[in-house]
Amino acid sequence: MVSPRHMRFTRLFSKAMVPKPPPTLPRFNSSHQLNIPTTSSLQVNINTSTTTIANMSSSTTASTPPALSDPDVPTPLAQPGEKKQINLLRGWPSPHLLPPSNLLNASHTLLSSPDETQSKFNFNVPALQYGPDPGYQPLRHSLAAWLTQNYHANETYPPHGFPTLTTAEQICVTGGASQNLANVLQGFTDPAYTRAVWAVSPCYFLAVPIFEDAGFAVGNGKLKGVREAEDGEGVDLEELERGIREVEGGKEWPEKPVYKTPGPHRKCYKHIIYLVATSANPSGITTSLSRRHALVQLARKYDALIISDDVYDFLQWPVLPSPTTQSSKHLPLTTTLLPRLSDIDISLGPSPHDLALSAHYTRAPRSPPSLSSKGSPNGTTPNGNGQHHNDDMADDHQQDKQSLHPDHTIQDLHFGHAVSNGSFSKLLSPGLRTGWTHSTPAFAYGLAQTGSTRSGGAPSQYCAALVHEILSSGALEKHLTSVVRPGLQKRHALMLETVKKELVGPLGVKVLEDNRTGAECKSEQPALFGGYFLWLELPETVPFTAKEVAERALEEERLVVSPGENAEVSGEGAEGQVGIRFPRHLRVCFAWEEEEDLVEGVERLGRVLRKMVEEAKEGGGVKKVGGEGLKAFK
Ligand SMILES: Cc1ncc(COP(=O)(O)O)c(C=O)c1O
Repeated sequence: MVSPRHMRFTRLFSKAMVPKPPPTLPRFNSSHQLNIPTTSSLQVNINTSTTTIANMSSSTTASTPPALSDPDVPTPLAQPGEKKQINLLRGWPSPHLLPPSNLLNASHTLLSSPDETQSKFNFNVPALQYGPDPGYQPLRHSLAAWLTQNYHANETYPPHGFPTLTTAEQICVTGGASQNLANVLQGFTDPAYTRAVWAVSPCYFLAVPIFEDAGFAVGNGKLKGVREAEDGEGVDLEELERGIREVEGGKEWPEKPVYKTPGPHRKCYKHIIYLVATSANPSGITTSLSRRHALVQLARKYDALIISDDVYDFLQWPVLPSPTTQSSKHLPLTTTLLPRLSDIDISLGPSPHDLALSAHYTRAPRSPPSLSSKGSPNGTTPNGNGQHHNDDMADDHQQDKQSLHPDHTIQDLHFGHAVSNGSFSKLLSPGLRTGWTHSTPAFAYGLAQTGSTRSGGAPSQYCAALVHEILSSGALEKHLTSVVRPGLQKRHALMLETVKKELVGPLGVKVLEDNRTGAECKSEQPALFGGYFLWLELPETVPFTAKEVAERALEEERLVVSPGENAEVSGEGAEGQVGIRFPRHLRVCFAWEEEEDLVEGVERLGRVLRKMVEEAKEGGGVKKVGGEGLKAFK
């Protein structure tokens, strides 16, 4: 168990230095009206043309707020006589779920001048400076304690069998999950040596361009989808292993990275496996504990790195029996968090690949004669990458024990096979663009050696300091418990009930109501759900695609929904190569729109679907509309 002492947070500043908290910020009202000072000369972008707030004030009344948010997306304002647009595609948190007053208080604490009796040099606000490469140190510590508190209950799981302690050295502060996915690929893959990225399908659609930027595209055969197994417990491991074997045997692979020189602090993996292990976006599935164990074993066998976007772990709640049920005002994390894939991998210690790598880097320049049959005198191994065939590894391990270079230990090179990609975007605010990784300490250090991080230190230094203030004061836990989880619980219940009433009953649409799988799905316990999305499946009998439904919904109902093809692992130059298709799925988000609009949005979807079913019955085929408009939304 974790001792209470372990949980005590270190405060950066003493209470005496903390100024009186500022007044609470006004909250957004229910129609998203923003309180904009009309005298401000602040510039905003509206549909790509730039204007000023002052200009806008004459033409904009309180009931028609300006579209401040996303210049890529057509204005959500309704023209006279037109329906208001409802956007169930957007995966953003509603402004009601954000904590501006916490951020304001934390900023005050960080930026207020200390006692005047102190030297002026004491007013060096570290948050405003360049920071250390692995991130703002107080946050690494407070976050490690908070993660330990939340994941420690894993000891109740026999296969895992020990409490998961997260330490500060296992944490690297990042610019959020997306930025960090790019950094991991930059530092730990080589587009020629790394055989493939395996993305569990359906896939978080905005991850695909990040893979493409790193050289892994469907078009060049280096980005591959791998499906969820039919048992619903997570990725289909048989398919994944078959795919890996085929790729390994399909050609002569370079023996070492071609374009990258990882040096002693990083390595290039042969494979990347990408998934969202908990409350997946979009399928909602939480990978079962036993599937997690098996996946880690597979990664360790084939020198793969699992990257799990664990951005929804803290956003899970018991499903309300009905939206009219009093939703909880105080909703701590009621579920036992499953161990992260990184917890499981770390618990197993270094893999043969880790050990072989350490042999490569740590062997003294002149190898003892007994090693000569396996590698050159300078320690290079038969495949030139410090990685032996499995049969040789146990033997190598013994050799390593005697031949460690004094500057390196196995721990320095224990990069492991899984990294957990965490984010404060959905816990506090996406605008902070701050997240973290959990991995072995060596991996965390290597990640911090990303070139762009070394130039100036970890991204989001100021935001990381804000997050530390909020976390260590207990305000993060309070915000999650009293605002975010209850808010999402209620919104989910509203949307789910309307989906059942409008789509499941009358039209045969399928929806996941409990995202636990495998042994974790115990029927006597109330259903659990998490994340931001429902993943709807149209019945096989309908003679039209989900994309056609989404196009009609936009055209006829001003409703934006995401067709399943967005979650396919596809891309430029990939025509005809997409293996795993989702032509009958739609993703709808319950986190962004106002509560009443969640209900109305699903009702509009029901209307469109009923109409299309009727048209199909009449035999003339369904009316098609141009789908170009949909492409503007992300
Ligand atoms: C699976 C997944 N990963 C990453 C992100 C983005 O995270 P961040 O804002 O930290 O870049 C999202 C946001 O929707 C997501 O659903």
